[in-house]
Amino acid sequence: MKNVLVTGCAGFIGSHLAEALIKEGYNVWGIDNFHPYYSPIIKRDNIEEIKKTAEEHNGTFNFIEGSILNDKDIDKIPNEIDTVFHLAAIAGVRNSIRNPVPYFQINVEGTVRLLKKFKDSKFIYASSSSVYGDVPEEDLPVSEDRKLTPICPYALSKKNAEEVCEMFSEIYGTQITALRFYTVYGPRQRPDEAFTKFIRASLKGEPITIYGDGEQTRDFTYVGDIVKGNLLAAKKLKSGFHLYNLGSCRRVSVNDMVKNISDLIDTEITNIPPPKGDVRNTHANISKAKKELGFEPTMPLKEGTKACIEWCKKSHKKGLFD
Ligand SMILES: NC(=O)c1ccc[n+]([C@@H]2O[C@H](COP(=O)([O-])OP(=O)(O)OC[C@H]3O[C@@H](n4cnc5c(N)ncnc54)[C@H](O)[C@@H]3O)[C@@H](O)[C@H]2O)c1
Repeated sequence: MKNVLVTGCAGFIGSHLAEALIKEGYNVWGIDNFHPYYSPIIKRDNIEEIKKTAEEHNGTFNFIEGSILNDKDIDKIPNEIDTVFHLAAIAGVRNSIRNPVPYFQINVEGTVRLLKKFKDSKFIYASSSSVYGDVPEEDLPVSEDRKLTPICPYALSKKNAEEVCEMFSEIYGTQITALRFYTVYGPRQRPDEAFTKFIRASLKGEPITIYGDGEQTRDFTYVGDIVKGNLLAAKKLKSGFHLYNLGSCRRVSVNDMVKNISDLIDTEITNIPPPKGDVRNTHANISKAKKELGFEPTMPLKEGTKACIEWCKKSHKKGLFD
């Protein structure tokens, strides 16, 4: 049974990936420090869910509560890790403008520390579509070779970490793939992201706050599709440094996304001016991931929205959002 590591395994995407790897029969190691960017109660609940999955599938999940910025914590993980899935990060475009320093510490220095220890393992890095910056309408959908012009500290830190990956791959021959995720949604989505934020507000009888006119578009990608992309990338890993967009290749306006929610639960809407750092549109060209990894996103937005609502309702009952 191969050892794999998921950093940030208590988070939204990392917890789903850890469960999928357990189901695939890997011996899963995880590290997370329950960073207080959002409620650690939600993250601890995600860890409990992973442990349940491990029990149900007779699998192994070894969890280390610790920081990727602390070598003593990293050294609790064995050297013999076949593949590292590096998702630990501090996310959030708007927060990164208010408080930029931890973005470079966690997202860049954290990546260097992990690569230093795991330079002989295979490495999958969770990057972000935000590295492209504000792409003009006529240049969408975007492919991987586009020049990167990040417009907020979060996006710049993700770009810098990609560069660290490329450099390590050149110096040590580490096989590294960076996956640029597009606005990921689904159960366990972070509370600062649109689906969770809007559904939670509606369940509490509060209005949904849309930035600007709501005609900005996003390539919303279901977490299950992102997990599949990670598994494929690990199976198809080759020497050198490689980059792939992981999106749904479907552009949806925020107004249409909210309409999907309103079709299922009562909502009330208010509009406020858009903040700095937000891009107008995102849309992935996923031809490369399709061709080289066999990546095919399948989740329809309606079904994905239902899954988000179910999770938000369950979490409210559990008291995770109080
Ligand atoms: N959610 C999205 O739409 C999206 C889009 C593009 C890229 N990404 C990337 O995917 C990854 C996961 O994102 P997410 O939405 O699941 O975020 P998340 O915040 O839910 O998960 C990140 C996890 O990393 C942990 N972490 C933070 N600092 C740490 C440290 N020093 N040591 C150990 N763990 C630490 C946090 O506690 C958290 O559990 C991130 O790298 C993010 O940049 C996410």
